[in-house]
Amino acid sequence: MKNNYESKDFELEIANLHIKKNEINWILKPYPHAIIDNFLPKSLFEQVSSTKPDVLDDLRRTNTTGLEFNKKEYGIKGKSQKFRIPIEIMGFGIGKNLFSKFMNPSKIITLASHDDFGGYYPYHSSSRNGLLGSHVDHCFLGDNIHFANSIFYAHKEWKKEWQGETILFNHNGFKPLVYIEPKPNRMVLFIHSNTSFHGVNKILCPEKITRNTYYMDYYLHSNDIKHLVENIQKAGKGKPKIKYSYHQTTFIPFFPFGFNSRPTFNTRRIVTYFRAYIIYLFFRILPIDFKYSKKFNRLYNNLKNSIKRHINKFFS
Ligand SMILES: [Fe+2]
Repeated sequence: MKNNYESKDFELEIANLHIKKNEINWILKPYPHAIIDNFLPKSLFEQVSSTKPDVLDDLRRTNTTGLEFNKKEYGIKGKSQKFRIPIEIMGFGIGKNLFSKFMNPSKIITLASHDDFGGYYPYHSSSRNGLLGSHVDHCFLGDNIHFANSIFYAHKEWKKEWQGETILFNHNGFKPLVYIEPKPNRMVLFIHSNTSFHGVNKILCPEKITRNTYYMDYYLHSNDIKHLVENIQKAGKGKPKIKYSYHQTTFIPFFPFGFNSRPTFNTRRIVTYFRAYIIYLFFRILPIDFKYSKKFNRLYNNLKNSIKRHINKFFS
């Protein structure tokens, strides 16, 4: 009988053969993205999707604000080999090949190659009324620039009327343009830049159902970014133009689903959201090279912490 590792390697091999057969059709607007259905072999997906989030014991973060609601983020410590297979695929080896239209896979670094996923969490589970407002992710990790994302829908069932679509917005994050239904066993890829605003539509599934996703980020050294930009421009005959500037994860304040939808005034963490948005705008508008903007922000943080320390000292 095969031991766990041999059995996992065998499953991975079968999965890789299956994935290689998938054709990837990149859609370039509003920014490059691709949808791959039946991503894993059916039998493997059945095993992966059998994990119920209520048995997971590595909960790292629960979102409860008006812009990030009813979403739990998990690490993968102590999880079964089967549970980890999508991470192995998305984070190592073949996952990098999914972006080969735009970048040499050997240049790509993933979240999974960082200790403890660089402090981010690769498995998300959202419940009824959950949502994720229009946002761009963090733009760098260490010295590398965040250039792409993959999202894999791992729940067993989903109905159209339950919504929860992944939304792609226009360049300023105010207008939803593409709604991607979270069909089970569907993989979504997109190129990440300072205008790739995305989010999750309000989830209307029954209480006992959850929207479960595996998530992976992909990075490039700053020297390789210009090749990526050139390749994308070549593919789109000059459009869309991909740009990178300094930002943390940045949400559009008050408007999770664009200016034409109802705003939210659940004000938890609103100062944090607002500050991130102002900093984002500052670096997006000013023509400052990425490496200087990073230094500039480090200075700002040092100054802010020093002021805080002095205020605390004064009042203590
Ligand atoms: Fe995101």
